[in-house]
Amino acid sequence: MCRWIPILLLLLAAGPLRADDVLIRKGEYLVRAAGCVSCHTDHENDGPFLAGGRALVTPFGTFYSPNITSHPQHGIGRWSDDDFLRALRDGVAPDGSHYYPVFPYTSYTQLKDDDIRLMAAYLRTVRPAVTDVREHELPWYLFRRMMAVWKWLFFEPTEFAEMPTGSAEHNRGAYLVVIGHCSECHTPRNRFGALDVTRYLVGARSGIGDELVPNITPDRSAGIGKWSKDDLTYFLATGALPDGDYVGSSMAEVIDDSTSHLNSADLQAMAVYLKSLPAM
Ligand code: HEC
Ligand code: HEC
Repeated sequence: MCRWIPILLLLLAAGPLRADDVLIRKGEYLVRAAGCVSCHTDHENDGPFLAGGRALVTPFGTFYSPNITSHPQHGIGRWSDDDFLRALRDGVAPDGSHYYPVFPYTSYTQLKDDDIRLMAAYLRTVRPAVTDVREHELPWYLFRRMMAVWKWLFFEPTEFAEMPTGSAEHNRGAYLVVIGHCSECHTPRNRFGALDVTRYLVGARSGIGDELVPNITPDRSAGIGKWSKDDLTYFLATGALPDGDYVGSSMAEVIDDSTSHLNSADLQAMAVYLKSLPAM
């Protein structure tokens, strides 16, 4: 009997830790799926993981992403779950100020509460980095309080709605495409920078970096209508286009930092959803 006591104690000590670990790995997976890494890591200057400082050049000015490592002063190490919920769902900072929608809370607003908590649990484990991030370079009229007006006009916190007639796979794919914020680049914007959701995923000139972003609806001439589901899944896993070429520009980052980390069931679900959209 005595022999078992130390083993029991060990199991007791290891048990809760292992459960936490599973949750943290789930949070990490979601952070990958939501594409947080590309914007919050200054890959170009070999910046530390998620330590911000990446310049995002847009028609409205240049934004610099903040440090979201667990550093208590330079990062967000002191944030509560509620702080994360407010930032991602409502675009509101812990001090009550409004974020610029270059931080795509317009998509993240649809993240499920539990998923936000898992992401928060993972982010608290990210190696703290000391980087102080530069101020955004914006025209005078884009002061932060203007964002209250912008949000009043163009933003409504929205919960993700599953399609009642859709299969579980279809709905999972829809969720991943929303939180993967594919729409933030692939959907055109009006002149105030708000997404024109009536032309969902029909392609655009991207607000960030001024690139041409292709149509990814199943239209046969303009979009991905001629791609099979397997073409799409393979593309999201590897960046290889059906013609054998590799995708470039910011999509290469989306693949490297985000979709190539997802499991094949999830990539397949995204393909099923994209192929089910109206062709435009
Ligand atoms: C397209 C680029 C982009 C993506 C993708 C992105 N962010 Fe950000 N994020 C930003 C920018 C830029 C800001 C600063 C916004 C501002 O100053 O109003 C920001 C702000 C934040 C803040 C507030 C930090 C603070 O100190 O107040 C948090 C937290 C955050 N992002 C977390 C995330 C998470 C988690 C994800 C993935 C779910 C994510 N971001 C995806 C660009 C991005
Ligand atoms: C940061 C902006 C950005 C985001 C976010 C983004 N894309 Fe892209 N995407 C692009 C650009 C730019 C291209 C074109 C790349 C090129 O010309 O080589 C592209 C190309 C593609 C293509 C190839 C289309 C073709 O006809 O060649 C597919 C498919 C695609 N994206 C799907 C997605 C999906 C699915 C998501 C969400 C998980 C997503 N993209 C998120 C910018 C983005």
